[in-house]
Amino acid sequence: MNFETLKPEVVKIVKDEQQSREEKLKSVCQFLNDSIDYYNWVGFYFVDSDRQILRLGPYVGAPTDHIEIPFGKGICGQVAVSNQNFVVPDVSEQTNYIACSFTVKSEIVVPLFVKGKNIGQIDIDSHVLNPFTEKDERFLEYVNKQIAKLF
Ligand code: SME
Repeated sequence: MNFETLKPEVVKIVKDEQQSREEKLKSVCQFLNDSIDYYNWVGFYFVDSDRQILRLGPYVGAPTDHIEIPFGKGICGQVAVSNQNFVVPDVSEQTNYIACSFTVKSEIVVPLFVKGKNIGQIDIDSHVLNPFTEKDERFLEYVNKQIAKLF
């Protein structure tokens, strides 16, 4: 996967004056989902610090019941607390995991920082075992840096 060719497209979406912030978030999800074959669900969760939960934002992929995730619960909830990337090569080996679909084999979650504060995350599910590398991490950190400009 050549992530370098995808970066300018992400920048283009973020800068597009025709789209609202919500639309841009959804467009980025759609773009990543369409461009990378092992990205099979792409979405954003956002922190609600008063309630200590994550709330589902724009996403592309199978509908999910997990609209709200308490801090600490599942892969996403753990990232809300750790502020660190979480790469799960095989979800069946995780005890603190919230299953969305039996087709999901692996997951990556990268926190979204705005002025140093963790305000949410990008969450990607894959139907492939162990597909994510450090290149995905660096790329998704780049994507989130662009997204952060919208806040
Ligand atoms: N698997 C996630 C839940 C969110 S879904 O992937 C959309 C988790 O364990 O936090």
